[in-house]
Amino acid sequence: MQAAAELDLPFLTMDQDEFAADPFPHFAAARAAHPWLARWSLGYVVTDYQAMRDLFSMEGKMRMLYDNIVAIMEAEGTPWGNFQQRHMLSMSGATHKRVRDVLAASFTPRQANLHRPLMQQVIANQLDEWAPRLAFDFEEFASYFPITVMCRLIGADPAVIPGLRSAMEAIGLSTSMDKRWLPAMQEGVITMENFVDDLIADRRAGKRVSEESDLLDLLLQAQDGGGLSDRELGDVLIFLFVAGYDTSKNMLTLTMRLLLDRPDVYRRCGEDHDFARKVVDESFRYHSTTSSQRILDDDITYRNVVLEKDAIVWFPLSVASHDSRLGERAEEFDPDRESLSPHIGFGLGPHICLGQYIARAQIHEGLHLIAQRLRNPVTTGPQGYRPFPGTWGIRGLPVEFELAA
Ligand code: HEM
Repeated sequence: MQAAAELDLPFLTMDQDEFAADPFPHFAAARAAHPWLARWSLGYVVTDYQAMRDLFSMEGKMRMLYDNIVAIMEAEGTPWGNFQQRHMLSMSGATHKRVRDVLAASFTPRQANLHRPLMQQVIANQLDEWAPRLAFDFEEFASYFPITVMCRLIGADPAVIPGLRSAMEAIGLSTSMDKRWLPAMQEGVITMENFVDDLIADRRAGKRVSEESDLLDLLLQAQDGGGLSDRELGDVLIFLFVAGYDTSKNMLTLTMRLLLDRPDVYRRCGEDHDFARKVVDESFRYHSTTSSQRILDDDITYRNVVLEKDAIVWFPLSVASHDSRLGERAEEFDPDRESLSPHIGFGLGPHICLGQYIARAQIHEGLHLIAQRLRNPVTTGPQGYRPFPGTWGIRGLPVEFELAA
């Protein structure tokens, strides 16, 4: 048995721009030096797919890290700090179960499939508006899609979107652990709190954008029945917007980036709806956008290594399946492959992504219609990357294309 603290572990520079631009070789080198564990400036990093699964099965010995993140950022008592300590990922035990149970029935695979026509309509309208430009920043384009779908699901007027985009961009950097973003994150939380407070007040006053019943009706019923407190209702609404925004936008942009180098695969996505789904699944396996973090409540012994109580452990779920030990050509993107082990890009355990079926469906529908309408796209390449430890993704992906006849 060896204490992890005494091991000579590889060091990952996860906070560097150069790391975010291409994390794969860094993880491959770390795995070559130690089979499953590395370090970075804020704790340990689990580098092996099976180790992530095994350690997540010990969730009872870990807790969320948001209190510590707020302390590290020296933001206790601020709007951003308070929101981090209250949102759904910070909840545990009976409180978390109560809130998750209120939402669960609206996030099943069946519900997600029922929303597909709405997703198709949203992306089609957006393409009608954007495609005639023949060139745009794909990241910016992608950013309007999930938030419009979320507005329609919740019953908010999509006219609010331009005012919310920068707020959600900023909140998406919450686990980047970089104090430079703190002022923008504070402003982002205040903007979102004002937005949901107005949304709830309008709905209570009978002002609504559609007569159809929506997720906000359901949440208000839960609040009236004592299932959610006033503050929880507001926090849940903000969290749904934020959790689904950066993740889906970045995932669609990362997928587009892959396909710009694979024109045949891109073309087939437009021709074949089923094939587009396989591409989305393979893209989630190949890489995704989020890392999870936990703090250990107790010593954990795994593969003869003792990870000490109070240690912070990072799980880079976004690149977990990109591991050559998982199977043949695991490091290659191949949508025609027979399946490898299921990816864990949506997390594991009690906090596993509630929106995963919505995320999959909207990226699938989006990609299929985009590939139909924007032909032969080319890019000069990403203009930058978002920090790897937060919600990873591309910053700026200029594309030029031809219009479908
Ligand atoms: C590419 C898209 C997405 C990815 C990669 C993703 C990833 C994740 C991950 C990894 C977690 C668990 C974090 C942890 O345990 O530390 C999570 C939680 C969550 N996600 Fe997603 N997500 C995506 C899209 C969405 C969407 C579209 C929604 C809402 C419509 C959503 C709502 C949530 C919620 C509510 C939680 C918290 C669940 C809980 O605490 O019980 N996500 N997501």
